[in-house]
Amino acid sequence: MVIQETLRLYPPASMMMREALTDVKIGDLDVPRGTIIQVSRPMLHQDKDAWGPDAGEFRPDRFANGVAAACRPAHVYLPFGHGPRTCIGQNLAMVELKVVLARLLSRFAFAPSPRYRHAPVFRLTIEPGFGLPLLVTRL
Ligand code: HEM
Repeated sequence: MVIQETLRLYPPASMMMREALTDVKIGDLDVPRGTIIQVSRPMLHQDKDAWGPDAGEFRPDRFANGVAAACRPAHVYLPFGHGPRTCIGQNLAMVELKVVLARLLSRFAFAPSPRYRHAPVFRLTIEPGFGLPLLVTRL
């Protein structure tokens, strides 16, 4: 749930891009063939209509009953994309994240350093703008 919530608020791949191969209508919008459509994951992932009024808060337990119960419709949660080009490595990524977190948390405690400034920035991926200084204690 912590990993899912982190990928919701800070999806590493922030933009999804698709090209309209034919003229297409999306809702009320006429999209001509050849148009590049960019979808912002952070905007979808923090849409209050889909996630509720606490959409901007870090609340891992929103995933307690799975993605479908955390948001409506479930397709607004797209950290690994969706459809035929969905991330081929998503299962490996989730296993890696669980193993790394479990190993680190079994040996160390982490707290943000007083020097930490919360400033996520959009580069190729979403990154902490001023790094991630941490206070690390051996357990
Ligand atoms: C937290 C880690 C990761 C995130 C957030 C992530 C996210 C994504 C996203 C958003 C896409 C585009 C999906 C789309 O356009 O619909 C993608 C594609 C892809 N990812 Fe990942 N990914 C991660 C880890 C990995 C890993 C570990 C691998 C390989 C071992 C991998 C391999 C790929 C490949 C090959 C594609 C292209 C698939 C295609 O175009 O058919 N990813 N990933």
